[in-house]
Amino acid sequence: MMMSVKGSVFLLGLYFTTQISGLVLQSEPAVSGGFVHTELEKTVSLTCLSEGAGHDPQEAELVWLRNNQLISVAAGNTQGSSRLCVTPVTHKDHGAIFTCQMKNDSSVNASVQLEVTYAPLHSGMEEVSVEQTRELELSCDVFANPPVLVSWQRHGAPIDLFEGGFLLTNDGRKSRLKVGQVDRAAHQGPYSCVTSSPIYPNSTKSFKVTVTDKTVQFETDLIFPMIAGLVVIGCTTLLAIVSRWRRITQCCK
Ligand SMILES: *[C@@H]1O[C@H](CO)[C@@H](O)[C@H](O)[C@H]1NC(C)=O
Ligand SMILES: *[C@@H]1O[C@H](CO)[C@@H](O)[C@H](O)[C@H]1NC(C)=O
Ligand SMILES: *[C@@H]1O[C@H](CO)[C@@H](O)[C@H](O)[C@H]1NC(C)=O
Repeated sequence: MMMSVKGSVFLLGLYFTTQISGLVLQSEPAVSGGFVHTELEKTVSLTCLSEGAGHDPQEAELVWLRNNQLISVAAGNTQGSSRLCVTPVTHKDHGAIFTCQMKNDSSVNASVQLEVTYAPLHSGMEEVSVEQTRELELSCDVFANPPVLVSWQRHGAPIDLFEGGFLLTNDGRKSRLKVGQVDRAAHQGPYSCVTSSPIYPNSTKSFKVTVTDKTVQFETDLIFPMIAGLVVIGCTTLLAIVSRWRRITQCCK
């Protein structure tokens, strides 16, 4: 009997404490463990309600912060309850903490953190034409949350980086497959980049690499000295004329 009374008092106390803490933050989509899970381009709608005891909930002036920076909201959207929309959600909102607090007492506050997931954006087929002995670079979008694994294939089989003289880099945004000096026998053909994510379907970008003959081109390195040479001759001639003319005028004085 005693136990159960104590229990109820304890529960009552807890309930009361929640009331005193004063603010309830609701979210669409719903909050789970302090996080709101969303994706790029979507909208997150947050509503803060004052439920304070000891003051009139309708009177409470509310403010919003994003990562501890004040957000300005329209006047009339701060009294007793306040609504904030994050739209469209961007990469930069990943990990952002939105806090609603009472303007005159920051210890009365409630927060949620956004968790934004996004898949890599590559797809389709790209035709790549590169001259024999030139540099080849294929790139694939890998910017994603959670991070993706990327695998490169040629003729549907994993690429042997060493054998093909490939260099593979990944800066978290792009995965790049490079060859310094392309060789038709070793490098022409179909390529693909496959990204696999723990939450999104695999996505593939295909490439069709054609290695063309080296074109004979006007070597600018040859033409340029020729033009430079002509200009030098022209200037020297002009100088000669000027100095001769000067000498002539001097003679006339
Ligand atoms: C803050 O404002 C509310 C509502 O106007 C009021 O009831 C409360 O006493 C104020 N708290 C402080 C610490 O000034
Ligand atoms: C939010 O409230 C908690 C609990 O009252 C407090 O510890 C924290 O410092 C408050 N945050 C700010 C920014 O005042
Ligand atoms: C996704 O890619 C991974 C790694 O390339 C592979 O093991 C897996 O089978 C692929 N899943 C599907 C559904 O194609």
